Amino acid sequence: MIRLKNDKQIEGIRRSCKLLSAMYRELMPLVKPGVMTIDLDRWVRDWIKKAGGRPAFLGYGPRKNPYPAALCVSINNEVIHGIPGKRKIREGDLVSLDSGIDLEGFISDQAVTVEAGQAAAEIHALNAATRDCLYQGIAAAKAGDRLLQIGRAVSARAGNYGVVHQFCGHGVGLELHEDPQVPNYPHGPNPRMGAGMVIAIEPMVNLGTGDVEILEDDWTVVTADGKVSAHWEHTVAIFKDHTEILTDPLE
Ligand code: MF3
Ligand code: CO
Repeated sequence: MIRLKNDKQIEGIRRSCKLLSAMYRELMPLVKPGVMTIDLDRWVRDWIKKAGGRPAFLGYGPRKNPYPAALCVSINNEVIHGIPGKRKIREGDLVSLDSGIDLEGFISDQAVTVEAGQAAAEIHALNAATRDCLYQGIAAAKAGDRLLQIGRAVSARAGNYGVVHQFCGHGVGLELHEDPQVPNYPHGPNPRMGAGMVIAIEPMVNLGTGDVEILEDDWTVVTADGKVSAHWEHTVAIFKDHTEILTDPLE
């Protein structure tokens, strides 16, 4: 069931989203060769706490294996849900960051992909294309149109890159994962989009195949062929005659 949000709820979600983007603006420059990914997570936990929020990812998921961090850090062949640890970022790594904030019950979700130092040209191109896929998907998110237009637009822009099919965007705002599912290719239920829908659009795009596998930690998603992957995400709100990106643009 899709929970439509009223203007007051959207205002709360917007505040949560603005806070999250403000955090990323400080976090992204910290992604540099030599930095341990667990230090980024520690920084995020402290920042969110000081800002009066709660990390939306920490403790999320199955009771026997909840997500153990405030931030996902997915490097190179890791697609999403990489768990921060002692691994150090290296020159040329493609580093996806994904986080969310619960601010007074309003949930935001945003992901960016950062090139540590100088990345190879084909990696830089993948990253730019994936961000573009996100904006093409957002342009297709319009009241009155069908939801799968988003996935159609993402896949069209992705061209010969591998779009990940096994994970998708989602409704968000009062919980981290709400209905509907928002796939990055046209597949599954295709409801009409309408005013009051708040969704996270999040293309995951790979240099090689779109196929993925999950590691033994039951979280880390990696590409099946070991090639590099990028991930960009915004939380957006759909109104009667326009769509607003609630999180801020980040490069
Ligand atoms: N953006 C991620 C997603 O929608 C956030 C979930 S990570 C989790 O899948 F750890 F919280 F599950
Ligand atoms: Co998400």
